Amino acid sequence: MDNITISVIKADIGGYVGHSSMHPNILTNAMQALDKAKGKGTIVDFHVGHCGDDLDLIITHRLGENAGEVHKLAWDIFVDCTEVAKELKLYGAGQDLLSDAFSGNVKGLGPGVAEMTIEERKSEPVLIFAADKTSPGSWNFPLYKMFADPFNTIGLVIDPSMHDGFVFDVLDVFNNRTVSLKTPEEMYDLLVLIGASEHYIVKAVHKKDGVIAAVTSPQKVNLMAGRYVGKDDPVMIVRCQSGLPAVGEVLEPFSMPYMVTGWMRGSHWGPFMPVAFEDANPTRFDGPPRVVAFGFQISNGSLIGPRDMFADLSYDLARTKANEVADYIRRHGPFEPHRLPLSDMEYTTLPQVLEKLKGKFK
Ligand code: F6R
Ligand code: MG
Ligand code: MG
Repeated sequence: MDNITISVIKADIGGYVGHSSMHPNILTNAMQALDKAKGKGTIVDFHVGHCGDDLDLIITHRLGENAGEVHKLAWDIFVDCTEVAKELKLYGAGQDLLSDAFSGNVKGLGPGVAEMTIEERKSEPVLIFAADKTSPGSWNFPLYKMFADPFNTIGLVIDPSMHDGFVFDVLDVFNNRTVSLKTPEEMYDLLVLIGASEHYIVKAVHKKDGVIAAVTSPQKVNLMAGRYVGKDDPVMIVRCQSGLPAVGEVLEPFSMPYMVTGWMRGSHWGPFMPVAFEDANPTRFDGPPRVVAFGFQISNGSLIGPRDMFADLSYDLARTKANEVADYIRRHGPFEPHRLPLSDMEYTTLPQVLEKLKGKFK
């Protein structure tokens, strides 16, 4: 069996209404284009989803990571969907497309990308997470819990095939360098870095023999653009079971609606709410930030699914808690720590306001 590559490529190419959700015509447009590519044999299979105003293209193919053909396909879909968005005057049409010129790879052009190439196992359960109103560092906490915390993942303790631990690849987004740290040996070092989730982002997690377990989209669109364009609203792919965390161990970290950056104007801390697909439409104060989980079994490259993994009663309490936390922290209004610290506001619209104040200082 040839290797299969899972590419999740996403962009905000226009919101409906405001930044809250996705117009059905956009989804249909993307599905038709991918169906054509599937018919031609360019790709093996696909699923089109969304979280809030972010269009998520989930694609399987045999062309490997960073394949020009697949990236071009996704790029053309985003450009085409932008045209649909413009016709409907959807909000922020083409928001994440930073360039007119495609040059072989969507990285650096605005869209987020998470890709992994796998040797398909006898059974291959994969969870794909998509978020809205937050940033790539928001996967740090759950990845740590899934792959390094025995209070979350009992498999680390009792499954001999997990007992050796994992390796985390961490990206320093400001200096564009990567470090690999092993758990459990280097877990404190790992936490020194990834606890600062705006600076250090977990890019991938491997088994110690190199087998890929998880990848994220670490792109920071505002850093790329050098100005505030929008939030990066990341995606993540996690393989599950048989020597990797069980599906339930991968979902468990989201039972705690931990705090993430993003929300209104990309400028606030707020609780990360796990929701069913139909609830992936952030409205209150443009939020609170949300995450959905697409569950698939991969069969000879075909995506069997998705199952809507957070459409489960057992996440009700997390959602209630998230609403309580949202209510509480909202009462701080424009004050920190609801508002991000000044250092993290650099790529928001705030510096323009500060600039105007400059002359008033004596
Ligand atoms: C957050 C987000 C929204 C916008 C807000 C203002 O990621 O996209 O909260 O920042 O709605 O949008 P503009 O400046 O386009 O009016
Ligand atoms: Mg938007
Ligand atoms: Mg978004």
